Amino acid sequence: MSENLDLFSTPAPAEQVQPAIKIKVLRDQLNHWAHQYYVLDQPTVPDAEYDRVFRELQALEAAHPDLVTPDSPTQRVIGAVMEGLASVRHTVPMLSIHTETDTEATGAQAFDARVRRELGLAEADPAIEYVAEPKFDGLAMSLRYENGRLVQAATRGDGEVGEDVTHNIRTIRQIPLTLPDGVPPILEVRGEVYMRRADFDALNERQREQGGKTFVNPRNAAAGAVRQLDSNITAQRPLSFFAYGLGAITPPAEGGPVFRTHFEMLQTLKAWGFPVAGQVQIATGATELVAFHQQVGTSRDALPYDIDGVVYKVNSLQLQRDLGFKTREPRWAVAHKYPAQEMATKIEGIDVQVGRTGKITPVARLAPVFVGGVTVTNATLHNLFEIRKKGVRLGDQVIVRRAGDVIPEVVGVIPGNRTGYVPNFQMPKACPVCGSAVVREKGEANHRCTGGLFCAAQRKEAILHFAARRAMDIEGLGDKLVDQLVDANVIRTLPDLYRLGLTSLIALERMAEKSAQNVLAALEKSKQTTLPRFLFGLGLRHVGEATAKDLARHFGTLDAIMDASVEQLLEVNDVGPVVAQSLHTFFQQPHNREVVEQLRTCGVTWPEGPVAERAPQILAGKTVVLTGTLPTLSRDAAKDMLEAAGAKVAGSVSKKTSYVVAGEEAGSKLVKAEELGVPVLDEAGMLALLSGVGA
Ligand code: IVH
Repeated sequence: MSENLDLFSTPAPAEQVQPAIKIKVLRDQLNHWAHQYYVLDQPTVPDAEYDRVFRELQALEAAHPDLVTPDSPTQRVIGAVMEGLASVRHTVPMLSIHTETDTEATGAQAFDARVRRELGLAEADPAIEYVAEPKFDGLAMSLRYENGRLVQAATRGDGEVGEDVTHNIRTIRQIPLTLPDGVPPILEVRGEVYMRRADFDALNERQREQGGKTFVNPRNAAAGAVRQLDSNITAQRPLSFFAYGLGAITPPAEGGPVFRTHFEMLQTLKAWGFPVAGQVQIATGATELVAFHQQVGTSRDALPYDIDGVVYKVNSLQLQRDLGFKTREPRWAVAHKYPAQEMATKIEGIDVQVGRTGKITPVARLAPVFVGGVTVTNATLHNLFEIRKKGVRLGDQVIVRRAGDVIPEVVGVIPGNRTGYVPNFQMPKACPVCGSAVVREKGEANHRCTGGLFCAAQRKEAILHFAARRAMDIEGLGDKLVDQLVDANVIRTLPDLYRLGLTSLIALERMAEKSAQNVLAALEKSKQTTLPRFLFGLGLRHVGEATAKDLARHFGTLDAIMDASVEQLLEVNDVGPVVAQSLHTFFQQPHNREVVEQLRTCGVTWPEGPVAERAPQILAGKTVVLTGTLPTLSRDAAKDMLEAAGAKVAGSVSKKTSYVVAGEEAGSKLVKAEELGVPVLDEAGMLALLSGVGA
């Protein structure tokens, strides 16, 4: 059907020309935007604009079904369901790479020495130029384009014969379905399909919530997604792609391109719209290979995707041909690994940890194992369901995964190592910290301690929340100090904070007199506060900063809030039945009223006044991001003013941001705003906006 778009060779019927041209223009536009968004990570138009054009194309195609081609952006999710995957014989075999397991320096040196020897070079000859690339931990893919259109995608299989997964690969937005004019008529791009770590974590989180199957690691998740028979499933698994090589290509004799180096070829692939990893670089001689291995090794945890090593390739394609192959491996490339991110070890115990919100997490105590570059002795088991699903029992041999900065986790049991009967792990009935009952609410995956503020773990959280900057703003009262104070039983309730004296503080480990005085001064200062801060600081369920402000504005005094009926609470802006009931219940409890009373007795005060007029909500529904230093207003003051006018103040810029207010030394948020076309205001502009004069 593609002839319909070949407008210049065969004159199309008059009434067909217009839609065909229009369709081509829309597809080019959408492909261009999609490339900027998915490959370059630099969106240039709002989502809404993309969607609008997409719908326009869909409508045109619906009206002209004969003009629909499989490479149209509308056909990305084609919903094809296969009965089984067909076999594909690779025109050029997909090779593997020899793996160098030696240490950093000797691995690279051994490879360089081998290459030089095989090329017959003497010591005095110049150093060899290599291309150093990350070794992506996904699965190899061969993408075949004919006349600039993706016609086939195949897995590596045994290197000779792979599986046809075209229907699934079409759903990966980073993979172009069409290539620009002038590409060789036959082009096979080789690369790696993988899943970014954040996408993997989100996918597993979603699966866990829905009680579905979780995946062991991004590679398995990607491989499973690619080999689906139903492409609708693949489309829901966020996959990415990096190009790293070529398979078949139109030869120069038949007008194909002439590449001199591997690097040049990669740059060309990039220009044709394929994602090429930013880390790829030229390295000359063994020394620079070692440096690359070290440099990528130190940034490995920070990369958004898993790598299991680096790959060194001789850059000159002529030298590659001279070196040739040894069975299935090229002599011109080698993989150099990093410590594995998954290792086997034994579960020596299963404990539970009480989180600061009362959540109880089972934790495996492990026989120490070196994984992902560190020695790991504990790994999370997430919750009871995960333990049951994975079938983990005490004493089992398990696989532990530690990738990036994430907490190590037990991903599965190595079967066949259990020698006798081992009982299933049971959740404790009582909290190991406070002894209160442990419960699991209906529909929840997690068990929780019901101890509330009676539980030290939760008390710590409550105190930290009370002391937070947006609450009582007690400077210097951080994690460590709160741990010490609660563990030493110096503080049991919030009012105890204001009963702290110099002696009890100095008695704590690593607490100098000067720091102790600073803490006391900060506590003293925090006593002068505002009603919204105080309310928010109490950490009532469902009462965030915005609700605290609404309550204060509506009722004016704390007593009025404490004595309000559910009906009266419901009159407050944005307070629904759940919040109203929970607030009412909280203040009906004598011990909660007692805490409030004691805090007041300790000297905590705020200006109480008549019910303030609610400012007009001229920014209702708008999202604003603050960045940089404003000339006169503090960040908090600006935030308060924006929120009072109904705006939501967010921490990062996205397509949904309505305005960015930028001051001195505004950084990446400003850049992002400009990229996304979000209006940028200075302080004066913000004030104008608030007074109703601005944009
Ligand atoms: S080149 C001639 N480059 O590693 C060698 N492979 O055994 C052809 N891999 O499963 C492969 N990152 O998918 C090459 N930057 C990279 C790679 C890479 C990962 C994988 C590849 C294959 C295995 C090669």
